[in-house]
Amino acid sequence: MTEIELLIDFHKNAKRQGPGSSEDTLKALSFISFKTRQPLKVADIGCGSGAQTIALAQNIEGQITAVDLFPEFLDKLNANSKELGLQDKITTLEKSMDDLPFTNEEFDIIWSEGAIYIIGFEEGVKKWKDYLKPGGYIALSEITWTTNSRPNDIEEHWNKEYPQIDSASNKIKIIEENGFSPVGYFYLPVSSWIDNYYQPIEERFDDFLKRHNNSELAKSIVDGEKEEIRKYIKYKDFFSYGFYIAKKI
Ligand SMILES: C[S@@+](CC[C@H](N)C(=O)[O-])C[C@H]1O[C@@H](n2cnc3c(N)ncnc32)[C@H](O)[C@@H]1O
Repeated sequence: MTEIELLIDFHKNAKRQGPGSSEDTLKALSFISFKTRQPLKVADIGCGSGAQTIALAQNIEGQITAVDLFPEFLDKLNANSKELGLQDKITTLEKSMDDLPFTNEEFDIIWSEGAIYIIGFEEGVKKWKDYLKPGGYIALSEITWTTNSRPNDIEEHWNKEYPQIDSASNKIKIIEENGFSPVGYFYLPVSSWIDNYYQPIEERFDDFLKRHNNSELAKSIVDGEKEEIRKYIKYKDFFSYGFYIAKKI
C-alpha cells in the first residue's frame, strides 16, 4: 500500500476525518437565515465520511451534494445516510474540489469543514463564490490562530505545514474582500479536537498497526499522528479551527 492508501485506510472507519462536532455544525447553521428559501441546495465540499453532512441533512429542508476526492469516504457516507433514511437528501460526488462540475449560482449554501485548506482559503472563497446564488452563504472551518502572538515552535510548525494559517481578523478580511458579508465566527472547543477526533484516532492505532503487520510506513503514520496530538495538547491555547459564516453580497 502507498502512503495515501494507508492514510485512507486509517481514517475511513472514523466518524470524522477532522476536528468538529454536530453541535459546531448546528451552531454554524444557526447564523444562516434561510426561512424564505427552503428547500435549500447545499454543497458540502471535502465531506469525508460526512458527519457534518448527516447533521445538516437532519436539520434542513433540501438537497445536499457531498463532494470528496476519495470514494472510500463517500461509500461510508452513503451507507450511513441509507441507515438513517437520509439517502433522498444526500447525493455523493467523487470529484476534486478544484474541478467541480457546478454551475454559476446553483447553491444556497456552500459548506466545508476542515477541507478548504486543500485548495487554499482565498482560492476556495473566490472559486466557490461563483456557485452561490446572491444572498447565499459560505460556512467554512479553517485552521486559525486564536491569539495575537504565540511560541516560536508552534508558529514555525504551522508556517511550514500551512503558511495560510492566520488570525480570524485576517481570514474575515479575505472573506470581505471577496464579496461576502461575515455573519458569524467562532472557534471549535477543545472537546471537538480531543473527544471527537484525537481520542478516536488513538483508539485505532493498535488495530491499524496489526492490520499492516507493523510496516515501517504504517508506523510512520502512527508516529506522525502522535506528534500532531502532542503539539495540539501543548499549544491548544494558540490555535483551533475557526468557523466562518458569511453571506454573498
Ligand atoms: C480534514 S478532512 C475533513 C473531512 C470532513 N469534512 C470532516 O470534517 O470530518 C479533509 C477531506 O478532504 C478530502 N479531500 C482531500 N483532497 C481533496 C480534493 N482535492 N477534493 C475534494 N476533497 C478532498 C479528504 O478526502 C478528506 O475527506
